[in-house]
Amino acid sequence: MGKILVCYFSRMGNTQQMAEYIAEGIRISGHEAELTKISDIKSGKELLGYDGYVFGAPTYHRTMPGIVETFLFLAQKSNLHGKIGGAFGSYTHSGDAPKMIFDTMEHVFKMDVVNLGALNLLEHLVGTRDGMKACHDYGKTIAQKLKQ
Ligand SMILES: Cc1cc2nc3c(=O)[nH]c(=O)nc-3n(C[C@H](O)[C@H](O)[C@H](O)COP(=O)(O)O)c2cc1C
Repeated sequence: MGKILVCYFSRMGNTQQMAEYIAEGIRISGHEAELTKISDIKSGKELLGYDGYVFGAPTYHRTMPGIVETFLFLAQKSNLHGKIGGAFGSYTHSGDAPKMIFDTMEHVFKMDVVNLGALNLLEHLVGTRDGMKACHDYGKTIAQKLKQ
């Protein structure tokens, strides 16, 4: 059984809801998923010991929130090279943050990212059946990489 960390920031709860559904998708696939808020991660050591990582952030002001930027500097010290990676977040019109995070995971951390790219979900879809399915499917895709 693999172990995935789903680590997110959410101001209004939408990205948190996505994180919970993605974790469910991983668990439905028979693997372990731990959910953590980015604000609870105090050192790079807390990121050690997982097979994969899914980082989530909403887009504010066409970028990622400052706390997430700081978190990525911390994650850089945890040597995530070769680990499974994915990113997600809720948005209303531009959805920049998940793409930026995914880009860093792929090109800077050199992680084994999912070929779906980042999961950007329009805010009004988060609480719908389609939104839940999109998150479950993303979690399942992450889990599938554990078997490869
Ligand atoms: C002040 C403010 C700025 C925002 N800027 C953007 C933006 O640049 N691009 C975008 O796609 N969404 C933007 N949004 C929408 C949020 O990304 C959206 O509400 C998202 O669902 C919030 O996620 P959260 O509930 O996880 O905090 C903005 C929202 C607020 C309140």
